[in-house]
Amino acid sequence: TVIKREDYRPFGWLIPEIALDFQLGLEKTRVSAKLTVQRNAKADRTDMLRLNGDGLTPLEVVVDGEVVNSWSMDGEDLMVPLVSDSHLVEIVTEIDPSSNTQLMGLYASNGMLCTQCEAEGFRRITFFPDRPDVLSTYRVRMTGPKDQFPVLLSNGNPGASGENDDGTHWAEWHDPWPKPSYLFALVAGDLVANTDTFTTMSGREVTLNIYVREGDLERTGHAMESLKKSMQWDEEVFGREYDLDIFNIVAVSDFNMGAMENKGLNVFNTKYVLADPDTATDGDFDGVEGVIAHEYFHNWSGNRVTCRDWFQLSLKEGFTVLRDQLFSQDMGSEPVKRIEDVRVLRGIQFPEDSGPLAHPIRPDSYREISNFYTATVYNKGAEVIRMMRTMAGEEAFRKGCDLYFERHDGEAATCEDFVKAIEDGAGLDLTQFRRWYSQAGTPQVSVRMEHDGDAVTLHLKQEVPSTPGQPDKQPMPIPLKLALFDKANGSHRGEELVVLDKEEASVTFTDFADKPVLSLNRGFTAPVSIRQEVSGEDLVFLAAHDDDPFARYEAMQELVVTHLKQACAGELDDDARDAGRKAIGDALAAVLADDTLDDLMRGELLILPTQTYLMEQMEAADPGVIHAERQGLRGWLGKQLEADFIALHGRASDMPYSLDAEARGARKVKTQALIYLAEANPALASKMGAGQYDAADNMTDRQGALMVLAGLQTPERTHKLLDYYNRYKDNALVVDKWFAIQAQSLHPHAIEHVKALADHPQFTLKNPNRVRSLYMAFAANPHAFHAADGEGYRMIADLILELDPINPQTAARFVSPFGRWRRIESGRSALMREQLERIAAAGNLSRDTHEQVIRSLG
Ligand code: ARG
Ligand code: ZN
Repeated sequence: TVIKREDYRPFGWLIPEIALDFQLGLEKTRVSAKLTVQRNAKADRTDMLRLNGDGLTPLEVVVDGEVVNSWSMDGEDLMVPLVSDSHLVEIVTEIDPSSNTQLMGLYASNGMLCTQCEAEGFRRITFFPDRPDVLSTYRVRMTGPKDQFPVLLSNGNPGASGENDDGTHWAEWHDPWPKPSYLFALVAGDLVANTDTFTTMSGREVTLNIYVREGDLERTGHAMESLKKSMQWDEEVFGREYDLDIFNIVAVSDFNMGAMENKGLNVFNTKYVLADPDTATDGDFDGVEGVIAHEYFHNWSGNRVTCRDWFQLSLKEGFTVLRDQLFSQDMGSEPVKRIEDVRVLRGIQFPEDSGPLAHPIRPDSYREISNFYTATVYNKGAEVIRMMRTMAGEEAFRKGCDLYFERHDGEAATCEDFVKAIEDGAGLDLTQFRRWYSQAGTPQVSVRMEHDGDAVTLHLKQEVPSTPGQPDKQPMPIPLKLALFDKANGSHRGEELVVLDKEEASVTFTDFADKPVLSLNRGFTAPVSIRQEVSGEDLVFLAAHDDDPFARYEAMQELVVTHLKQACAGELDDDARDAGRKAIGDALAAVLADDTLDDLMRGELLILPTQTYLMEQMEAADPGVIHAERQGLRGWLGKQLEADFIALHGRASDMPYSLDAEARGARKVKTQALIYLAEANPALASKMGAGQYDAADNMTDRQGALMVLAGLQTPERTHKLLDYYNRYKDNALVVDKWFAIQAQSLHPHAIEHVKALADHPQFTLKNPNRVRSLYMAFAANPHAFHAADGEGYRMIADLILELDPINPQTAARFVSPFGRWRRIESGRSALMREQLERIAAAGNLSRDTHEQVIRSLG
């Protein structure tokens, strides 16, 4: 069944309070729920209480103290007839956490018990109106064997606890803040905590705990620092203060997503908690900081103000992603963080927006909500709010946010509520801007510059492409920051913000005797793709002179993209190819020589556009041709600049390990240099890589070297892969990396390697991190996934079919790579479609996978 946004109706009953009693066991957990139920005066009157369930059987139903038999089942839901305006409803259920391989609801992980309820997992624990607009205060009591589960946690503040004579103990928790069921959490296990405190701006002392398995304690320091910084930052930048006496984080190794913002009890994938220099890369450290912040920020954007229904998911996710991005910008390098965020957006969200799974940031319909935890809802959602911030200015935007929190605290709100609050608080008219919430597709903006006398006119034009279910689009307001550079002195006269809100518009600037160079969408103010005719010469100019680091990066990327597009289209003869490569080589040489650049930024400028991004730029991409051209360019650049890359590698290798920006920058350019050399001079790169690996006193260098070695066909490859495995075989997160490095590699036999790894004793379909480490890495390796004979497609389709009965949510995530079938050359297109049809034809598909497959087939 399809659920539609327009069908929203308030629930017929309020559940102001719920008391839950758990008798915990890995194989059998008994759940007794007591619900206070009151008629909702604001809803249509009904005499039936529908409580959602998923795989549950009611063992006992008690209404107002009497066991009743008047209930019935409607599919998975429990229907209880109620006549009066208020009742006490008690329900007993029993569940088996150990057989819960979906990892939704209450499940067992490594001998502990934990929960994941967003979006609809609570209904796998007990019968309840499992929808975000039903808010209740929760009292939880749990009892379990003390030796097995010494730690018993739930939301809110701790209450009484005690021991029984039979070896069990119990604990009570009370959460004073009304919340929807998706924010419920419970954890029981043998855990140890890193404990600290934070004093909030109004003087509340909060106990902070990060719970992990015993051996992991020493890797929690960075997470704790990140948490304290997040709490401080949210007070300073958004005026948001924490509201309980305790904040608990628990790390679990079996988790479908990154982490979860349950009130006062965040549950995390270990990947986003544990970090130390020996086992985590600089990128992993950033991931921990960003996700800790993200979940913490949800306490306001998500928990205090939650979502009315799941169509509003971007209300909390888009806003919280923006908040975590701004936080990370403030903690590290602002321009580098912006570049990274844009790379994710263009690498993942743009393809989604141009494929069969395209949907607006506020979708209109779904079958399975888990399928809408997407880059569009999260990352484009963040960009949409960022645009409002750009148009309003920081201060006015903050006023709008304050008004939003003030108006809707304690409520389940809508995206419309948010826009209205920003409109009122910031003093903007966002009437037309609301189209960003309803229209899918990445707007294409084309620009043409006309120079006449001393006047410069920019002719701007927008087109929003049609997407599934949305053939016709209306123009959207697109805020574009721009600057016009005088070529003679290499500077501009100030930035302008132009909002293109019609299909076509022109803006004129005067006083330009010579034709200037346009720098457009500076800082990536709008999530659009720009089409413009710029000469290579102008791009080289911007790559060298633009004072906006993002624009500088962009010019460098454009230079490469333009060249590779022409090369792949067969438009370049040998001379033209050489000329194109030379222009890129000169720009790169300038980047290497420019001592005003820091290495973190230099590293960004060295990164070639990804193959996925290049495919996105073409109507019918041929992955084989793109791969060959891109690697060819890399090899050419590596040869041309071999001495410079060797020197860079040497200079960077002299820098001792630390987490400061300078040392991180050195590590970044070091591996970049190796990547270029690997293509130009594999024998040398293999030696240097092995040297980097052996000298490494940190995971960034070690993994960087191993990544490069994994793509080569040298003895060092085998040696170092083996060494790495032996060194880290007891650390699950590093073993994940070991799988991923091989699945991602440009080695010609990557497919065979992945097949062999699937039989490795440490491989299992039961652990999502492990599945992703092998198969997501592989599906994101265009060279291997798009093997011309279709073997990569077959392998991922096999995986989907095998994983679907075990973990549908994770299985469904593997469908989207097939969505490319319309935008790829015909041979592969047919092979991809064939696999989609094979999956569609299989019986008993989960709702998750089924929905993605039928949408992908279109
Ligand atoms: N709200 C979580 C976050 O953004 C994501 C949880 C999604 N979980 C799921 N099973 N769909 O941090
Ligand atoms: Zn989130």
